[in-house]
Parts: sequence; structure tokens; C-alpha cells
Amino acid sequence: MSATLKIGPVTMAAPLVMAPLAGYTDRVFRLLAREAGAALTCTEMISAQGLIYNNKNTLALLDLEGEPGPVAVQLFGREPEVMARATEMAVAAGAAIIDLNMGCPTPKIVKNGEGSALMRDLPLAAAIVAAMVRAAGPVPVTVKMRLGWDEVSINVVDATRVVVDAGAAAVAIHGRTRSQFYSGRADWSYFPRVKEAVPVPVIGNGDVRSAADAVTLLEQAGCDGVMVGRGAIGNPWLLTAIRAVMEGRPEPPPVDIKTRLSMACRHLNLLVQYKGEVAAVKEMRKHLAYYLRGLRGAARLRQEINTLTTAAAVTATLEDFQRNYPE
Ligand SMILES: Cc1cc2nc3c(=O)[nH]c(=O)nc-3n(C[C@H](O)[C@H](O)[C@H](O)COP(=O)(O)O)c2cc1C
Repeated sequence: MSATLKIGPVTMAAPLVMAPLAGYTDRVFRLLAREAGAALTCTEMISAQGLIYNNKNTLALLDLEGEPGPVAVQLFGREPEVMARATEMAVAAGAAIIDLNMGCPTPKIVKNGEGSALMRDLPLAAAIVAAMVRAAGPVPVTVKMRLGWDEVSINVVDATRVVVDAGAAAVAIHGRTRSQFYSGRADWSYFPRVKEAVPVPVIGNGDVRSAADAVTLLEQAGCDGVMVGRGAIGNPWLLTAIRAVMEGRPEPPPVDIKTRLSMACRHLNLLVQYKGEVAAVKEMRKHLAYYLRGLRGAARLRQEINTLTTAAAVTATLEDFQRNYPE
């Protein structure tokens, strides 16, 4: 199994990447993912247009100040010139890698010709990548895409060739079509063909839920790297397990409830520091749904926590739940 992942001049300590997840992979999530074992983390998708118009909320997503890297900044957009200017801003912000979003299936995005709509306009995708590569200087540009628009127009091999010819230094492939959104099982059977078609690293993504899945992607699907998405929400230990197996160590046993809840409390405290208490308590609710998944009484606990407005109250409620949990 490959020990590192090299994208252009950037070498990751392991071929393990935390996926971009809008609404989740903020600075705090990235910190916890990195601690857990991810060797590369990503911002969520950031509007290139929003950046160049200095939109305050968009600029906040680009805040990498002091963050231990490497961090990839993912941009979405459709105009090469706008993407180039946004790329310059991302480089100035400290991005180790700039990624082009060619996978987002959301109607709002696709209607603008952005995200996965670019899978249907490969000449434009090539022009965007070329413009980003010129703007990025020594910083590598990568592309995250899907298998194609729908099952009758799967073009991931062509699309990969096109973006690599335009200068992309790696591709990450989510093994679904746009029309599948996030449902059905990810299909990894195209990955070996993609790998054969291009000389750059191919990172496999979609439904990685265990260390065994990661091994399959690397050893059978021919991928150079593994990208983990939803499986790591509220469960950074998935990254730890994958990293262990990648390094030839035994897979750690599942964590107990105490470990889960103390991580949740730490996540909350970091969010408070980073975003302030009001935003942190509100945002933590969606993460908690995942930290608590599968625990007895989780639904009621979540209901209760959703009425709380201070971090101290959330922490006390979680601690109380843990003390009384029948293990
Ligand atoms: C809530 C959510 C937000 C996402 N946001 C992004 C995003 O900003 N950029 C992107 O390229 N993919 C995004 N994705 C897709 C994931 O990165 C990943 O490709 C997909 O979830 C499949 O991997 P998984 O099965 O491991 O989750 C998002 C997915 C989800 C569920």
C-alpha cells in the first residue's frame, strides 16, 4: 500500500483525504480530522464569484490563518477569469492545493452551469482548469468530479483526461453520477480505468465507511488515495482506523461512549472559540446528530439539546447522559 500521496510538489504523509463537505468542514472540523489521521483536509466549496466581490461570508470560508496544513481550498464557478482571480486569492490565503468543484449536484449550482454541470461541458472545464493553473503558480490545481451526469452519459475517463491535459495535478472521483445525488451505492468499478488513463494521482471517493473499504480502494480499485466524506462526520475515529491500517498497524477497537461524548464536547468548545457561543451551539446540533448515532436514547437527547442555548448547558447535558448510560 502506498505510504504517501504526492500532488504536484505537495507530499501528504498518508494517502488519506478528508472530503469537502459544505456546512461541515470548517476550520474546527478540519483540525479534528487532521488530528484523527487525515493527511489532507479541504474547505467546503467556496464561490469564486463571492470571493472576487469580497462577500464577507464567502471570505470567512477562506480563513486558513495559522491552520496547520496542508489544506486544499475548493472553488466553484464557471468563468475562467473569475476562477483565476479567486485562485490567486486562495493561494494568498495559504492554500496548499486549489480544487475545482465539478461534482456538486445541487439544482441552484447546476442551473448556473457550475459544479457537476461542468461534466457536460468539458471544453469549458478545460478552460477553467487552465486558467486556474496559470493563476496558481507553483500551487497544484486538482479537480473533484463525479462519474458523469447520469447513467447514460458516464464520461469520467474522458473528463479526467481533459482536465489533466489542462494541467490538473490530481483528480478525486466520487463514484456516483449527478442524477444519483447521494443515493444508491457508489460505484468504484470505473476507478481503475481512470487510473490507467492519466499519469496523475487518482483519489477514490464514495461510501468509504471502514478501514477495509479504504484498503479495497487502494488495492483493488487502483486508487492512489482515499477520500472520506460522510463517514467521518461525528466519527473522526474512522480516519484513525484507516490511517492505522494504511501504516500497517492493527485497527483500533471501536471507541466507547465516553470518548465519543468528550470529543463532541471538545468540538463544541472549539466552535465556541472560533465562531462564538450562539453560532457554535446552533451549528453543533447537526454534528451531534452524528456523534450520538446509534446510542440508546439519542433521539430524546437530541430533542433536549436542540432547546439549549449555552455551551455549558449542552456540555452538562451530554455529561449527564454519559453518566447514566447503561453500558
Ligand atoms: C452535506 C454534504 C456536503 C457536501 N459538500 C461538498 C462540497 O462542498 N464540495 C464537494 O466537492 N463535495 C461535497 N460533498 C460531496 C462529498 O465530498 C463526497 O463526494 C460525497 O459525500 C461522497 O462521499 P461519502 O460517501 O464518503 O460521503 C458534500 C456531501 C455532503 C453529504
